[in-house]
Amino acid sequence: MKILAIETSCDETAAAIIEDGRKIITNIVASSAAMHEKTGGIIPEMAARQQVTSIIPVIDEALKGYSFDRDIDAIAITSGPGLIGSLLVGVESAKTLAMLSGKPIIPVNHVIAHLYANFLDTNDMPQFPALGLVVSGGHTEFFYLKSPKELKWLGGTIDDAAGEAFDKTARLLGLGFPGGPEISAKAKEFRIRNLVEGQGIKLPRPMMKDESLNFSFSGLKTAVHREVQRLKRKNELSEGWIQNISFEIEESITDVLVEKTLNAIEKFKVKSLLVGGGVAANRRLTEKFKLKAGNVNLHIPEPKLCTDNATYIGSYAAFNYFPLDWRKIEARPDLDVEV
Ligand code: KG4
Ligand code: ZN
Repeated sequence: MKILAIETSCDETAAAIIEDGRKIITNIVASSAAMHEKTGGIIPEMAARQQVTSIIPVIDEALKGYSFDRDIDAIAITSGPGLIGSLLVGVESAKTLAMLSGKPIIPVNHVIAHLYANFLDTNDMPQFPALGLVVSGGHTEFFYLKSPKELKWLGGTIDDAAGEAFDKTARLLGLGFPGGPEISAKAKEFRIRNLVEGQGIKLPRPMMKDESLNFSFSGLKTAVHREVQRLKRKNELSEGWIQNISFEIEESITDVLVEKTLNAIEKFKVKSLLVGGGVAANRRLTEKFKLKAGNVNLHIPEPKLCTDNATYIGSYAAFNYFPLDWRKIEARPDLDVEV
């Protein structure tokens, strides 16, 4: 079965053809991130306008070499959560295709679907039960997966998400958007200069020792703000300090994510760990998981499948094949992840 999947929740316009939930046939992503770099963050109205311009060329490109009428069996669409203007573009386009073709259409929760990138183009299918960790721009959530069809929310961030922490602290340091890769690059420079951990500025690891399955990253942002203000007052916010603070931000976020995940693995006695979402593209996070997640099977998608794209939307829809009448599908910016 081939599914045409469409994803427009934020600043990426994406379409993909996925076969049997496991194989990527085509995968097209157009991003307006470069446009947002200038403003240091996403302006929803600008992102939505770019979605309108990109959606038809992106779907057309994803279908190249295939016939929508003959080759595509169903349509999968991100219905939420996300930015309303962006979501509407994908949702209404997908509904139009469904209305005209009569093909089944499946609405998909974008956040949960991130985990399904781990089922794509791999011979190493995760074993269940599994723990899912979604770390994206707006979400940091734990899920328990009894199987790819049976999933339960366990806990998540009570304020800023991990990606948001990267983006907001990058902004405080005057770095570009999205913040994750920018912070990571500066942290790497700090490591290359061979300064060992323990020197220079240290930042907190919020809620790391807390027993719950919740996260909080706003304290980290406040701590960075305080350090930046202190250095600015003394006119000392040099490249060296920016690299030091970036290093600590990356260490703090990855330490908290790894430590909490190890506790959850222990608690729920899972066989595999599935990580997904933009922050899963972080190399330091992968390094730490590889070092520490000893006796579970670790699954992290390749970086280009971590950040927003439509492939995992198609995979999720294949494993959770619940088509709806297109008239009943609507964009839901606040779609809940607590399932
Ligand atoms: O999943 P995603 O592409 O979009 C959302 O659904 O939010 O995640 C975007 C987030 C951004 O906050 C971005 O800074 C972060 O993922 N990100 C990274 C890296 N690449 C993207 N964070 C840390 N390291 C990276 N290499
Ligand atoms: Zn995402």
